[in-house]
Amino acid sequence: MSFENLGAIPADPMLSLIQRVASDPRDGKIDLGVGVYQDAEGRTPVFDSVKQAESHLVRTQSTKAYLGAGGDAGYVEQLTAHALGGNLGLRGIQTIGGTGALRLAGELLVRGAPERRIWIGLPTWTNHEPLMRAAGLRIAHCDLDDPARGGLRHEVLLDALRDAPAGDAFLVQASGHNPTGIDPDPALWQAFADVAVARRLVPLVDLAYQGLGAGWREDVAPIAPLLERVPRLLVAYSCDKNFGLYRERVGALFHRGANPEETARVHDHLLAIARVGYSMPPDHGAAIVRTILADPRLRAQWRAELDAARDRLASMRATLACRGRVGEVDLAALAAGHGMFAQLPLSAPAIQRLQAEHAVYLAPSGRMNLAGLNAGNLERFLAALEAVQRRSAA
Ligand code: LMR
Repeated sequence: MSFENLGAIPADPMLSLIQRVASDPRDGKIDLGVGVYQDAEGRTPVFDSVKQAESHLVRTQSTKAYLGAGGDAGYVEQLTAHALGGNLGLRGIQTIGGTGALRLAGELLVRGAPERRIWIGLPTWTNHEPLMRAAGLRIAHCDLDDPARGGLRHEVLLDALRDAPAGDAFLVQASGHNPTGIDPDPALWQAFADVAVARRLVPLVDLAYQGLGAGWREDVAPIAPLLERVPRLLVAYSCDKNFGLYRERVGALFHRGANPEETARVHDHLLAIARVGYSMPPDHGAAIVRTILADPRLRAQWRAELDAARDRLASMRATLACRGRVGEVDLAALAAGHGMFAQLPLSAPAIQRLQAEHAVYLAPSGRMNLAGLNAGNLERFLAALEAVQRRSAA
């Protein structure tokens, strides 16, 4: 096998979008692409609480010696207490972002039962399926799109799970659904827990935006039925967004087996998978999160910064929803969603023209990051949205 046998592959949709936005020289480009928070001035600043935690670490950290494959145990402990609200028999390990947590989860699921499938409702984050496939899992899809109502039918996944064989896994996003912003309602979460218990399925919950959707507690409350009632489960957590630590890549994988002995074995397998993948996770981001969460004053400051980011997203969503119809796009529908994302029903040529003619960047699916809009560019965005649809209709 030589490198000559490696064929060309398509670029990753999100990573290539980041490159295209960065290399666009036009003034006033509007970046509604990658899921990174921007403030009202279009910047992605380092949180003040993060800066303070970093200064504290520079002053006090006395060693950079290895911590081990599980990373910073204090970080995992703080996150368990503050994010999940208690340990509920869960254990966790530090991971390389939420993506790293998902990959470890996928590999663990394959080790546990190579023949099992993971059920994924579409649309979903563009990397979910490639990640699970790369981990060696078999995938089963459900189409959740609801063109008639313009929403998302999470209940289609639920129905499919009623016939799934014991041991299968399913992927659900806790809050701020990527790419649509439309989450399952509370009754559906109860039903997901019921089906997981009845059919002995393993939920893999992706919790990547806690605090940026409906609220800090509100974003985790819906998954309480899973956390409280399903014996075996996995939760992939990301601190990249809610601490603004994107490039530090800081996440965690929480897990629980059917009893403490099984949980301990799962933990050992996760450490072993990490060891042969990257050996140990990097320290800095997790040390920052631990420092913030362990200090009541810093924690309060960080929460205020996070709340301000969430409020800005919610008010931009409300502003857009008030505009009602722009061409064929009913912005009023955005009011049903939460968090950073909404999916606009635009054709591929319209998305392409937004980019080429107006320097407005959406993800290829029509997903938009609401944080990219502000008082200075909102009207330009709406005018561009209208113009590209007029052109399509002409
Ligand atoms: C996104 O969905 O835009 C982010 O999670 C970034 C990524 O890695 O795709």
